[in-house]
Amino acid sequence: MLPFRDFWMLASPGAFVDRMLRPIHHWVWGDFDRRVRKLIAFGEVEGDGGRDILRAAELTPDPLLRRLYLAHAIDELHHADLFRKRSAALLRTRSARSSGLFDATPLPGGHGLDDLCIEGEPDHRLLAFLHVAEKAAAGRFAIYREVVDDDPATRAIFEEILRDEVFHMNYTYTQLARISPATYRRHVWRARASRLWKRYLRFAAVIAGVFGTVMLTLQYFVLVPPFAWLARRAEKREPAGWVPIPRERPDSSTSLY
Ligand SMILES: [Fe+2]
Ligand SMILES: [Fe+2]
Repeated sequence: MLPFRDFWMLASPGAFVDRMLRPIHHWVWGDFDRRVRKLIAFGEVEGDGGRDILRAAELTPDPLLRRLYLAHAIDELHHADLFRKRSAALLRTRSARSSGLFDATPLPGGHGLDDLCIEGEPDHRLLAFLHVAEKAAAGRFAIYREVVDDDPATRAIFEEILRDEVFHMNYTYTQLARISPATYRRHVWRARASRLWKRYLRFAAVIAGVFGTVMLTLQYFVLVPPFAWLARRAEKREPAGWVPIPRERPDSSTSLY
């Protein structure tokens, strides 16, 4: 049975989609190379997010938020460290090799903090964005923790990080309600819509790429062959070698063209 904390995290629509995609998560994490690449990518995203939140701590005029942002940034940088060390430890257990078949994974990363933009963002927008991102991360890390059951060290990292993400998810919501008591729900919905829109754009870009490749391949194999056949047929009707110019042709012999 799921603990209450996990049940609450997994009750959101995004978490429901993630649970539907659980077999894909299983497939992604089941391969050693993909697992290492995922951990390296998580380390980068968490590190970038930590540095951005550190910048937010410098910019905010609110002393309480500054302290919380600072603690949050330290957590994210610690997560980055955990992911980096674990990926390095896994790599040491086996020499790195690439399957070459599928270097990327079709699923978004754990945190989504790579969308974070600090400069010029008021605290209420930043807190709403962080709340939505942390909630998504918490739901996803809960799934990752389950799918790496065969790897206790990685599972322990997800377990530890999950506790921090739940704290981040909660404090951002509480602080958002404190600084925008009348409009905090609207800010959260706007952040959710914006995140959804960015996800849609990424997905649409991938689909457009696949569609473009299929269309160009079809054009190459369907449209080009008839023209090639016509060109070859026309070539056969042309006399071979040099051909004398007819006398009646009015072209100037002094021009190249
Ligand atoms: Fe994190
Ligand atoms: Fe976090």
